Parts: sequence; structure tokens; C-alpha cells
Amino acid sequence: MEFYEVINKRRSIRQFVDREIPREVLERILDAGLKAPSSNHQRRWELVTLTDKNIIMELAKFIRPYPCRIGEPKTPQQEMFKIAYPRQRTMMEEAACVILPYFKQKYPLSEDKNGYGLMDYGAAWALVENMLLAATAEGLGSVVHIPVKKEPEQIKDFLKVPDGWALPALVVLGYAVKDPLLPTQVKATVENKVHWNKW
Ligand SMILES: Cc1cc2nc3c(=O)[nH]c(=O)nc-3n(C[C@H](O)[C@H](O)[C@H](O)COP(=O)(O)O)c2cc1C
Repeated sequence: MEFYEVINKRRSIRQFVDREIPREVLERILDAGLKAPSSNHQRRWELVTLTDKNIIMELAKFIRPYPCRIGEPKTPQQEMFKIAYPRQRTMMEEAACVILPYFKQKYPLSEDKNGYGLMDYGAAWALVENMLLAATAEGLGSVVHIPVKKEPEQIKDFLKVPDGWALPALVVLGYAVKDPLLPTQVKATVENKVHWNKW
């Protein structure tokens, strides 16, 4: 797929069919992630990659389906909440693969006074985005789930992740159902978002 087609095609997909992803496809996606830029060229990453359905189902138990009281959505954000909130667990259960890109958290954000904490965190997100785009190029659907509240600790214990490693997002992959639910996209264009040479 041509690069800009991939950029335009990528959407957050939260409904997947029951179909395995070939190992070589996953390896290309993982490799794309690992080619991302990193702060101080550290590449302090370890990618826990789950393809075993039983393990994915166990992992999904830690993800709370979020309550959503939106009736008739009035904004693209509300449309998204209505689609996304109830699917945080089911999208995991339906996924063929969940990648957990741990990064070595040298400067925890909560104690960070000089901004260094953002470096490794930012690099981990570059890796995540590379994988989302690679997944799109491979014809897969993808979405991220940000681990919140008790989830990071529970997932860390479940996967026996050593101390000092942080998880920016879970990357959820699978083949999309036909016509998955998608919210209207917020308009972000060169015309309405870009300031040339001054604000
Ligand atoms: C930092 C970040 C956090 C996100 N967290 C979640 C999440 O926890 N669960 C989820 O379903 N989608 C999550 N998303 C996906 C967004 O909801 C999605 O990107 C947005 O609604 C725009 O839709 P699109 O990805 O289809 O363009 C996240 C995206 C980003 C960049």
C-alpha cells in the first residue's frame, strides 16, 4: 500500500473477526515498530507479543468495560466514546494479537522535574505509531488501549514484567469486521491547524 494511502486509511478499529494473523505479518509490524526513532538512540524497548488466545482472554479480564451514558451523540468525541467505551474489553477478546511495548522508564513522569521523562515515553509512542501504520499497510485493523488505574500493575504482574518497565499503550490487532463502527473524524487539516512562520 502506498504510504499516504496507509496514513489516510488508518482508523481505530475495535471490532475484529476470528482470524489468526500470520507470524511473518506480525514480524513485519514488530520490525516497523523497532525502526522508530528513540531518545538518545536508546531503543530501551521490550515488546511482549501475545498471540495465544487463552492468554489474550486472561489479559482482557483486567480491562474494565467503561460505563458510557451517552444516548444520542452530539459531537465526534461523543460518537467515539459511545463506540469505544463499551468495547475496551471486547476489542481485546476479539483481537488476534496484543502487543505490549514496554519501555525502560529511566525518569518516571511523576517525579520528573526537567522534562527528561517525556523522552522515553515519546519514543515508545513513535514505536506504537509505526506499528499502527504497518498494521494498516498489512490490511489489519488496529487500536490502542491506554492502561489506566489498576491495569498497569495487574498486567505487569500477570505477564511477570520486571520492575522499571512502563507500558504506554496496548496495541490491539486483528482483521476488522465488515463495516466496523467508526466515529466521524474531527477536522484537522493544513488549512485549519497549521500556522506558517508565526502562531
Ligand atoms: C494517546 C491516545 C490514547 C488513546 N486511548 C485509547 C483507548 O484507551 N481506547 C481506545 O479504544 N482508543 C484509544 N485511542 C484511539 C482514539 O480514540 C482515536 O485515535 C480517535 O478517536 C480518532 O480515531 P481514529 O484513530 O480512527 O482516527 C487513543 C489514541 C491516542 C493517540
